[in-house]
Amino acid sequence: NEIKIFSPATVANVACGFDVLGFCLDSVGDQMVIRKTDKKGIYITKIEGGFNLPYEAELNVAGVSALAMYEAIDVNFGFEIEIYKNIKPGSGIGSSAASAVGSVFGMNELIGKPFNKTQLTKFAIQGEALASKCEHADNLAPALFGGFTLVKSLVPLEILELPSPDAIFATIIHPQIEIKTSEARAILPKEVALSDAITQWANFGSLVHALHTSNYDLIQKSLHDVIVEPHRSKLIPHYNEIKTTALKAGALGCGISGSGPSIFSLCKGLKTANHVKNAIESLYAKTGIEFDMHVSKIN
Ligand code: HSE
Repeated sequence: NEIKIFSPATVANVACGFDVLGFCLDSVGDQMVIRKTDKKGIYITKIEGGFNLPYEAELNVAGVSALAMYEAIDVNFGFEIEIYKNIKPGSGIGSSAASAVGSVFGMNELIGKPFNKTQLTKFAIQGEALASKCEHADNLAPALFGGFTLVKSLVPLEILELPSPDAIFATIIHPQIEIKTSEARAILPKEVALSDAITQWANFGSLVHALHTSNYDLIQKSLHDVIVEPHRSKLIPHYNEIKTTALKAGALGCGISGSGPSIFSLCKGLKTANHVKNAIESLYAKTGIEFDMHVSKIN
């Protein structure tokens, strides 16, 4: 009647895959407890982590996705949701997605798994939309499916699972400033130059191919973003220095995680990932801006 789950952090966009590509961090995430209750409805009964999130289900990301699923099932009981939040909202590693996915995943387990992961993603999109004011599934899909995912289309919702090469690790730096996804979207241009689009889809296609063939050199050559990064990098203090440092320390590539301010580096091997972490750490420690860092396998 009760399930305790780990809902992982995720990195969306992955440089060249704005709004469609994402991957799952297996060592960072929230804990949630979902419980059946006699009283019908969805109730958020506990929120820990100190982020001042709303308890009203219809105002809470986890509550909204839970309500979307609750409307689709016919049961004579309700659900209580406890949220132990580790992923700071506005950090760029899928905080809202972890909440949105966690509630529906847990509920589904408790009622015998009537829904598949794509259907669960659909419910979770409702919660995610509350936070980012638009519908996107590039954090939700990797949180539910794990590994790398590609959101082939939103309507109808189609998600492809991509392979994770064995030696791929991510290093994440999270500067402690908040960037709202809605604001980071508002600064993006509505139109892009055809020459930039060509570069971007060539990189995107080659990155997908590189993941399928575990071709680390090609991953390195593909991790570039000529469309979004030039605009959003301005919102992140010392972005260019971090990127230069990460690449110099051996990262295959480096980019903004989702809408930022977190920055991800993809590395071949844990040793390199830790080396990149140390290099970025000593650089950022000089800025006076608080930050934290994670190294994670992509699972
Ligand atoms: N693709 C979304 C964006 C992800 O970059 O706006 C937000 O985490």
